[in-house]
Amino acid sequence: MNILILGSGGREHALAWAVMQNPKCDRLVVAPGNAGIAAIAECGALDICDGGAVVAFAEENAIDFVIIGPEAPLAAGVGDRLRAAGILTFGPSAAAARLESSKTFTKEVCDACGAPTAGWARFDDAQAARAHVRAQGAPIVVKADGLAAGKGVVVAMDEARALAAVDEMFSGSFGAAGAEVVIEEFMEGEEASFFVLCDGENVLPLGTAQDHKRAGEGDTGPNTGGMGAYSPAPVMTPAVRARAMDEIIRPTVAEMARRGTPYQGVLYAGLMIRDGQPRLVEYNVRFGDPECQVLMMRLGAQALDLMQACAEGRLAEARVNWADDHAICVVMAARGYPGAHETGSAIGGLERIAEDSRQMVFHAGTARRDGQLVAAGGRVLNLAARGESLQEARDRAYAAAEGIDWPEGFMRRDIGWRALSGRSG
Ligand code: AMP
Ligand code: GLY
Repeated sequence: MNILILGSGGREHALAWAVMQNPKCDRLVVAPGNAGIAAIAECGALDICDGGAVVAFAEENAIDFVIIGPEAPLAAGVGDRLRAAGILTFGPSAAAARLESSKTFTKEVCDACGAPTAGWARFDDAQAARAHVRAQGAPIVVKADGLAAGKGVVVAMDEARALAAVDEMFSGSFGAAGAEVVIEEFMEGEEASFFVLCDGENVLPLGTAQDHKRAGEGDTGPNTGGMGAYSPAPVMTPAVRARAMDEIIRPTVAEMARRGTPYQGVLYAGLMIRDGQPRLVEYNVRFGDPECQVLMMRLGAQALDLMQACAEGRLAEARVNWADDHAICVVMAARGYPGAHETGSAIGGLERIAEDSRQMVFHAGTARRDGQLVAAGGRVLNLAARGESLQEARDRAYAAAEGIDWPEGFMRRDIGWRALSGRSG
């Protein structure tokens, strides 16, 4: 099988690593890829949001199966274009990807199928939104409706912050994404991520994870794309997973089918859990990054079989073989991230780190210049490890990190603290 993966981050390196281990994979191309991916697969230069270009590239390269990593090409309808060209594709249609690209849409789907989520209201003018904030009081959550690269959400602990967020969004600072604003009830509890595969009709749970979004230790400082993750999430007990499936995931998938826009791909439910009751915070229509890295460490080669069964509508007969293990991913980022940071600094020491099924360095933002590995993004490297316990996995990941020679980088030293301190669940 010739396989094309679209994307260039740690998520795509982890997907490529898992796919490569499967004997079904004859040839793997990743577009655009990064320096770490280039060491295990071919990389192709391609505008991955241009459906016509992706179809032409897939046809020229006799690709049998396309795995779409990030949300932007999904929202741009690249999955639709590939399927229309008869190419097997993992990832939802643009219509189904609205579960991530429009918060209003997701809320309407939840209301239609009775999935528990925060109370909400939608506004297209600032005055009515401000009046709503004043009537509801804080804490309250203000969100730009569209995709805003993870930056369109303000959890306001006081009214003044909420009003400022409303003004900021309507002032156009998020472009078209902020033309509509959703204001939500603030939910308390513990957050966890639940990943399921859907083939339009059947749903297969794939795993749970928790990530650390803040840049600083103790979960402080600015929000990032994610500084680390671990799987499984202790708060996702079998009872909570069953409720999430019965009350949130299955009703959503059924509602999407009823609307004529069945969901195919991985569905990533961000949940807030309190007293054993999960409520939906948001959906994403792709794997999380760095959550994908921990899921791939635990799934290995079977990830390809599962994604293929999903794309072919055969999930009813698919099974996940879970080992009773734990995985962790520690992100190394450029100093200053998520704010201004330099690129181009040299990274050394990677050749000293053994890579096997128990520990891997997945590249996020790296490039090669004159043979030298250099930082080429905010999040740059992922130290991923697996073990019989979370502690064992964590010790392995941090021991590997010691081998990396990159003074311009930093990492959080407390990934997994909540689960390890027994303060989860
Ligand atoms: P989102 O992009 O919708 O996932 O929001 C980003 C983060 O904001 C989430 O991971 C939560 O930590 C927080 N958040 C979003 N909505 C709510 C809510 N209704 N109540 C409490 N926290 C929220
Ligand atoms: N780590 C969060 C995300 O991928 O959205």
